[in-house]
Order: sequence, then structure tokens, then C-alpha cells
Amino acid sequence: MPEFIPLQYSPLSEEEQQRRATAFFEQCQRRRTVRDFSNEPVSRKLIETLIMTAGTAPSGANRQPWKFVVVTDAALKKRIREAAEKEEKESYEQRMTDQWLQDLKVLGTDWHKEFLESAPALIVVFSSNYELENGGIHKNYYVKESVGIAVGFLLAAIHNAGLAALTHTPSPMNFLQEILERPENEKPFLLVPIGYPMKGALVPDIGRKKLNEIALWR
Ligand SMILES: Cc1cc2nc3c(=O)[nH]c(=O)nc-3n(C[C@H](O)[C@H](O)[C@H](O)COP(=O)(O)O)c2cc1C
Repeated sequence: MPEFIPLQYSPLSEEEQQRRATAFFEQCQRRRTVRDFSNEPVSRKLIETLIMTAGTAPSGANRQPWKFVVVTDAALKKRIREAAEKEEKESYEQRMTDQWLQDLKVLGTDWHKEFLESAPALIVVFSSNYELENGGIHKNYYVKESVGIAVGFLLAAIHNAGLAALTHTPSPMNFLQEILERPENEKPFLLVPIGYPMKGALVPDIGRKKLNEIALWR
């Protein structure tokens, strides 16, 4: 028989709901992807709290198919940068379509990934399609959806804590599995450098879609 416990729930007045929703929206509206980090360190405890927040995300059948590997070691970050830049150089010069390169132009990005060394910590997110349990394979469900939601929680938590982050997807990124010595069932999902923005950091002047472009009422 499944066991149940009382839900912890405190109702809010409609006014308080709207106040909180607006405050959270305004805070999220200020989040930007940062590509220039200062070398100021971030405490391990703070990063652990952010990861615990990511770990509160919902997941298919509660399988929690994620793993967060935190890299602060300078030599490891250097290896990751070198491997990522090798792939990214090839992507920018050979693999990306003209349309893709055109879409990236406004961001001013290229294959150089200095942030992989300058950010004080890299959170490398792994996803698992299955776990090895009792000598057998135990499948996970809706893995991409689940890990994507957990990363959303992570990014919101990072921003909420006054830190900056970048969502980085070097492609392909199997090298992360090798360098970080993760088992066969853990596949790199994406890489999140975190830290403080460099003084005077600039971000691309891009916009967000308006409500009527992203929401429909029927
Ligand atoms: C799945 C995903 C992959 C991304 N990959 C990269 C990347 O490899 N390099 C990069 O500089 N930015 C990357 N970004 C950041 C986006 O370019 C950025 O979120 C977008 O331009 C909007 O800017 P904003 O986050 O400041 O609102 C990625 C974002 C997402 C969600």
C-alpha cells in the first residue's frame, strides 16, 4: 500500500498571490546569461544549497534522473575548456548551419570559451536514462523533461542567490563524461558555469517575446 502524509500548504490571499507573482516575475526578468565572470570564489555551502533546490524539481515517476558535478579545480577546468573549444571550433567552422550562425551573431559568441576557466565553479549536469540496480537495469522516464525542469530550478536559484550563470552546451559533449569519469549511464546534459559577473560585464541587447506571443486563452 502506498503511504501518504499531509500536504504542507499555506493559502495566500489573492492580493498576496499577485504581489509575490509580480515580484518573482520582475526578479526573473532581470536574469541574464553572463559570459564574463570575475574570479571571486563561491562557497561550497551556497552551491550545495542551489543544487538541493534543483533536486526539488518534479520528475517522471520520481526517478530524479540527474547528477550535478561541481568542478572548481583549475586543472580540470582547463581540461574542460580545451576539450570544449576543440569541439566548438569545429562546430563554428564546419557543423553549424548558416541560419544557426546568423542567429548567434547578435550574441557575439564564438568558439573561445574563456568562462570555462574564469568562472569559479562549473556545474556539469548529467542525465541518466537508467540506473544500474541489483545487477540489472532500472529505467528512468521522461528524462529530458525532468532534467530540463531541474536545470530551470537551478538557474532560478542561482539568480535568486545573487549569482550569475551561463547555460552552455558544447556540442558534442561526451568529453565531459570522460574527463569527469562518470559511468556509462550518466550522459552530459549541459554545463552551467556560475560565479559573479566581471565588473562592467556587458550582455547582448536582445528582447523577450511579449505575453501575447507566448500565451493563448481559449
Ligand atoms: C539549452 C540552452 C543552451 C545554450 N547554449 C549556450 C551556449 O552553448 N553558449 C552560450 O554562450 N549561450 C548558450 N545559451 C544561452 C542563450 O544564448 C541565452 O539564454 C539566450 O540568448 C537568452 O539570453 P538570456 O539568458 O540573457 O535571457 C544556451 C541556453 C539554453 C537554454
